[in-house]
Amino acid sequence: MHSSPNSSPTRRIVIAVDGFSSCGKSTFARLLAARLGYIFIDTGAMYRAVTCYGIDHGAVQDGRIDRERLIGMLDDIDISFRFNPARGASDIYVNGVCVEDRIRGIEVSDAVSRVSRIPEVRAKLVALQQRMGAEKGVVMDGRDIGTVVFPDAELKLYMTADPKIRARRRYLELRARGEEVPEEEIERNIRERDEADLHRAISPLRKAPDAIELDNSHMTLEEQMAWIEPILAERTAAAAGGAGNGK
Ligand code: DC
Repeated sequence: MHSSPNSSPTRRIVIAVDGFSSCGKSTFARLLAARLGYIFIDTGAMYRAVTCYGIDHGAVQDGRIDRERLIGMLDDIDISFRFNPARGASDIYVNGVCVEDRIRGIEVSDAVSRVSRIPEVRAKLVALQQRMGAEKGVVMDGRDIGTVVFPDAELKLYMTADPKIRARRRYLELRARGEEVPEEEIERNIRERDEADLHRAISPLRKAPDAIELDNSHMTLEEQMAWIEPILAERTAAAAGGAGNGK
């Protein structure tokens, strides 16, 4: 149970958004955060940033991961987000260098799920995520936010969408960035990552018992916002009244 020293009717909460890759979690979470005046944290970007560093420093090469070498580098990796007014969103930095434009490329995408399976990598990033959300007022998206990072989050969402629709969306996103990758290859990559995320030994993707499922295959972003509105009103009111425990 939460103790609730703050009885303001607009108490800020933690919103955990978990689900498969490329199902629009980040887009949804980013817009929701902007509308609420909350901080948005894309935890997938953090695993991708560690993968980038590994590629640049020889611990990830041609899809092969030198675990010990990468683990040895973790203390040298400083990850931060900085708001980019031109994009109206935060960019991710590794040791002061912006890697936002690289993290969704195919090289990183092919290696990231194996990097994210390394317990030492997870321990580092989960601790950082918990610090980032300690003051509440955050929307955090990932795989294990409602189960591991913030098991007491006041609102947990579990997002899904049809794999073919997700591949189409990612294809268009990459093309807009000037990367021409066959759609079938993207779909294969998505299905492989789904399998890896669901069946890995450490923090597998699973729906928290108290999470609400959102299948957005055939929903626009505005429809998703309208869908969440009454749920949000109820959860923030419950948190403000000190009665809410996210159930
Ligand atoms: O959401 P995404 O596709 O950007 O995530 C990239 C990878 O990081 C994906 O393989 C799953 C992993 N990940 C994770 O293990 N835990 C998280 N909280 C977020 C992402």
